Amino acid sequence: MLVQEIIKKKRDGSPLSAAEIRFTIAGCVQGTIPDYQLSALLMAILLKGMDGEETATLVDAMTHSGAVIDLRDVPGAKIDKHSTGGVGDKVSLVLAPLVASLGVKVPMISGRGLGHTGGTLDKLESIPGFTIHQSLDAFKQIVRDVGCAIIGPTAELAPADQRLYELRDVTGTVESPPLIAASILSKKFAAGIDGLVMDIKVGSGAFRKSIAEATVLAELILEIGKAAGKPMVALLSDMNQPLGHAVGNALEVEEVVAALKGQGPADLMEVTLELGYHMLKLANLASDRRRSLEMLQDAISSGKALTKFAEMIRAQGGDSLVLEDLQRLSQAAHHAVVAAPQQGYIASMDTEGLGMAALMLGAGRQRKEESIDPSVGLKIEKKLGDAVQPGEPLVELYYNDKAVSSEIVTLVERCFVIALEPVQPPPLIIKTLY
Ligand code: URA
Repeated sequence: MLVQEIIKKKRDGSPLSAAEIRFTIAGCVQGTIPDYQLSALLMAILLKGMDGEETATLVDAMTHSGAVIDLRDVPGAKIDKHSTGGVGDKVSLVLAPLVASLGVKVPMISGRGLGHTGGTLDKLESIPGFTIHQSLDAFKQIVRDVGCAIIGPTAELAPADQRLYELRDVTGTVESPPLIAASILSKKFAAGIDGLVMDIKVGSGAFRKSIAEATVLAELILEIGKAAGKPMVALLSDMNQPLGHAVGNALEVEEVVAALKGQGPADLMEVTLELGYHMLKLANLASDRRRSLEMLQDAISSGKALTKFAEMIRAQGGDSLVLEDLQRLSQAAHHAVVAAPQQGYIASMDTEGLGMAALMLGAGRQRKEESIDPSVGLKIEKKLGDAVQPGEPLVELYYNDKAVSSEIVTLVERCFVIALEPVQPPPLIIKTLY
């Protein structure tokens, strides 16, 4: 088979055969297909789409591009959560130890930053010593002993996603429903989960900007999950502003620690608790919503969830003393304020623009071989609907260069629309699909 013929076929809008999809994924993993051909094919898929059958084959080929972990001998329900990607979305870091402290087993294979969105793995790596690289045996052992482990795709596990994800990140080919579904589900199926709760982000900071587009993605993921016999739930949640205040890796870990100590921002906690309820339900650990929320709140106020996070950090080689002393996280040398130009109410935020600003400060990658700076990012001081006075801080920028570039300051200023009349912020949880 010739890769250029497969690219041309998709470019011209025809469905690919199962053999063509499997050939491509095999070549992606063996390294026989170069980056430029894979990138061209990704762009053709983004532009022309894939039908349900092609997507299901892609998920299956990517799942079996490496090992599939068998967790059947680990006691307990293995339930995971995954987000389609947002700005300031640090939910996984709070949720995994939270539900693990209540008995759910969470074998989480996460991603790095993608496009303008941050990645769970990059956030975790801002904890000194923490390693997302674990052998499959070690991963399984941590899930068994601690209850949760978070690692990245490896040469052994979902290696096709590892390579395609890096290419999508830097080639403008992230926002494709079949590519998003295949990326997420291949990692999850390879990790041996029993069930999955999806957080489908929708809005200006998400890869799906409208509820209709997000619903299509949710339905695609649920359909493939059902066909694979995995119980799944998908929540649509608002991403028209960053979740919480912190955007950037170490800054977000600080907010996670606050959340696990019972001092998390209201929006972050609302999404986390709702997802936690669905995870407990899929694990048959609670059927009643009110009781589940009580259990989750209690795990936070008793310190059980924070202790579980410390156990996971230590098991993955990290310095759990950061939980008591945040100065052990890397700190940016400078910060600067972007202030409100006028009085009014925050009417909208270009959340993708805010994610791009964090990336340009060094919190994400512009080329795939780039490393990131864990200490830089943004703190969002005003949220949708908040009243502002002229000169009040909208955003604090954390940076390490000698001076923050005027391009970034202008970008952040342009992200905010201030209205004269009071504004109602959008609901956070939009709908739940089964
Ligand atoms: N998360 C992933 O793992 N992959 C995507 O494509 C988007 C979000």
